[in-house]
Amino acid sequence: MGIVKLFDGIYSIDGRLATENLAPGMRVYGEKLHRIDGKEYREWDPYRSKLAGAIRRGLKEVAIKPGTDVLYLGASTGTTPSHVSDIIGSEGTVFCVEISPQSMKQLLPLSEKRENLVPILGDARKPDDYKDVGKVDVLYQDVAQPDQDDIIIMNAKKFLKKGGIAMFCIKSQSIDVLRSPADVFAQVKAKLEPHFEFVQEMALEPFDKDHLFLVMRGR
Ligand SMILES: C[S@@+](CC[C@H](N)C(=O)[O-])C[C@H]1O[C@@H](n2cnc3c(N)ncnc32)[C@H](O)[C@@H]1O
Repeated sequence: MGIVKLFDGIYSIDGRLATENLAPGMRVYGEKLHRIDGKEYREWDPYRSKLAGAIRRGLKEVAIKPGTDVLYLGASTGTTPSHVSDIIGSEGTVFCVEISPQSMKQLLPLSEKRENLVPILGDARKPDDYKDVGKVDVLYQDVAQPDQDDIIIMNAKKFLKKGGIAMFCIKSQSIDVLRSPADVFAQVKAKLEPHFEFVQEMALEPFDKDHLFLVMRGR
């Protein structure tokens, strides 16, 4: 079985993305497990995770590395957060904000097996409610809401370290279904520009339609 390291903590196994499982023996969303040289890896599906899709679409640098502290907004049931937890390992922490109590029910048992994953039932529009998180190296946002640009700006101001990286999944359909995705993305970028320096951007097709994945550095 061919394993290649792509980035710190991120691998390709026979051409499929994978991370080393921090909770060996446990699957999070039915993903395939591989045992290689005494280590267990979890396949990382780009059709289920936009971060995996962005890597497959040519992300040049992944700011999420072993030891990184991440604030993750819109954690849902933990698909992508679980891979972030694998990558950052025991020296990092991923704070997972999720508004849906239903999704939180699946995140909680995950956090019992993964000490670096902290679930927070909360609204990403109210960062004061989780202010104890403190400063982080990376802010990741995937809330798919009409005001997702305001949400990332207010959270970056409060939590992102100076020069830290924000990763932002913009869903044009959540912002305006009537306008073209290109128009929506241009409008959102104009609003973000005073607050962030753009590092890289990519469409996520064929993994996700009408999504822009933006990597930005906080100003
Ligand atoms: C597209 S899903 C996220 C998928 C997840 N990022 C992954 O890759 O595994 C969007 C999530 O954002 C959550 N959400 C929506 N508005 C929110 C808000 N204001 N605060 C926190 N979470 C929110 C939704 O409940 C949903 O679970």
